Amino acid sequence: MSVKKMSAAESGGVSKRFGNEEYGDYILMPGDPQRIDTMAGQWDQGAKKLDFHRGYRAAVGRYQGAKIAAVSTGMGGPNLESPLHDFAAKGVHTFIRVGTTGAIQEHVNMGDIIINDACVRLDGTSKQYVRDEFPAAASFEVTMALVQAAEKLGFRYHVGTGCTTASFFAGQSRSCFNGYNRPYAELEMRELQQAQVLNYDMEGSALFTLARIFGVRAGMCASVIAHRITGEYFDDGGIERACLVGAEAVHILTDWDSQKRVRGKQYYVPSFSVSK
Ligand code: URA
Repeated sequence: MSVKKMSAAESGGVSKRFGNEEYGDYILMPGDPQRIDTMAGQWDQGAKKLDFHRGYRAAVGRYQGAKIAAVSTGMGGPNLESPLHDFAAKGVHTFIRVGTTGAIQEHVNMGDIIINDACVRLDGTSKQYVRDEFPAAASFEVTMALVQAAEKLGFRYHVGTGCTTASFFAGQSRSCFNGYNRPYAELEMRELQQAQVLNYDMEGSALFTLARIFGVRAGMCASVIAHRITGEYFDDGGIERACLVGAEAVHILTDWDSQKRVRGKQYYVPSFSVSK
């Protein structure tokens, strides 16, 4: 009997799924493949776009001189797992999700940027990696870089906990088209609101948990396109603003990482900037 040889992707090695392009060390991860065009349009001239199997899209280029790349992850943790796994295996060390989100707090407005530094793990993917008590936490350096980027660009932003679900409708306490509604849905959202959770998304906790396990840095910014208290649903340009925040954060991290190398330090600390 002949045994089919496993591909690199199947065996957990470095797959060729995303080609042989030189992606650099920092990857932006939008969910929507169309956002690759938005991102590449904000970078320096000459960005190269790539299309892959199953609708994944990518771009490589430079932003204000810094090497940058973006890879779309599709919707949900299972779709994000493959690019995160493959690029971490290739040696990429920093991943920034640039997404959209639904706000659940009154003080958050449509179009605001939310920088999640941790997420409640209601995704399904991270549960298949590690016990529920393991935290879904962002890299403090990536989070700081996102905050600095939003400050520099003058965009309204919030920092805090998100909640990542494996479902857009029932999982985020929405009624379905036929009226199906979990009896405890409203209560679940109220519990999250009281616990100061800012927003719902569908990828954050999978990214943060798997990144920790793979030993790479991850962070996340998302624009508010839905408001669960007012019932609004639209994009006022927040998606473009979030893409810019992600690109600026890569520029900032590139600088911080080079300062760390010069000083022989593992972590960036704010006093580096003061003594520069
Ligand atoms: N993404 C989500 O996961 N939920 C929303 O409400 C909007 C965007």
